[in-house]
Amino acid sequence: MLFKQLFENESCTYTYMISCTNKKEAVLIDPVIETIDRDLQIINSLGLKLTYAIDTHIHADHVTSASALREITKCKVAGPANDNLECRDVNFIDNDSLIIGNSIKINAFHTPGHTDTHFSYTLDYNSEKMLFSGDALLIDACGRTDFQSGSSEVLFSTIKKIFYAMPENTKVYPGHDYNNKSFSTIYHQKRDNELINFDISLKNYIKKMNNLKLAKPKKIDIAVPRNNACGLSN
Ligand SMILES: [Fe+2]
Repeated sequence: MLFKQLFENESCTYTYMISCTNKKEAVLIDPVIETIDRDLQIINSLGLKLTYAIDTHIHADHVTSASALREITKCKVAGPANDNLECRDVNFIDNDSLIIGNSIKINAFHTPGHTDTHFSYTLDYNSEKMLFSGDALLIDACGRTDFQSGSSEVLFSTIKKIFYAMPENTKVYPGHDYNNKSFSTIYHQKRDNELINFDISLKNYIKKMNNLKLAKPKKIDIAVPRNNACGLSN
């Protein structure tokens, strides 16, 4: 397996490339339209074939490059079934999986709260679990819950019951980071996440989430309609 974490500066989005070096197949999780040339250059320079462009959710802050990647590479576009997007080729339901190349298995599971249809992905590699948590669990933070059918109560349950039940050495690779951090572990998030550590009560968590007072994402009015078309402009 070859793994790369890639960063898009404007929206501070992480895109992940996971590839099977035996079969020379690669997938991208949460690719961004602004960095499509870079991502394709990396994949081509490694002699890989892109087989899937996978989104964790309908992003509000950036536009996915999924459709554009399909046009160029003939890859398949994948994401949560409950998004109900006709533009997708693969629609995940809870506990689905996808095989990359010979044997790399990506597990897809429903992790609502940031949005109601949000999915996260895991894979097991060298006795370690890698968690691609999208915008549900961020490093020392979590995704906002104040639009796109988000719910702090639901996200609390997702993080506590799904993520914090994973092995503590699970590496957490988030959909964004705004503080130059690249990954964490479940162990560290349970201890150090100030918004939602292992001990915080639902009441206190909701209070903290209600006090975030975040500005509306600059691109939301463009990004959401385009992402509902897998990144194509209508
Ligand atoms: Fe998001």
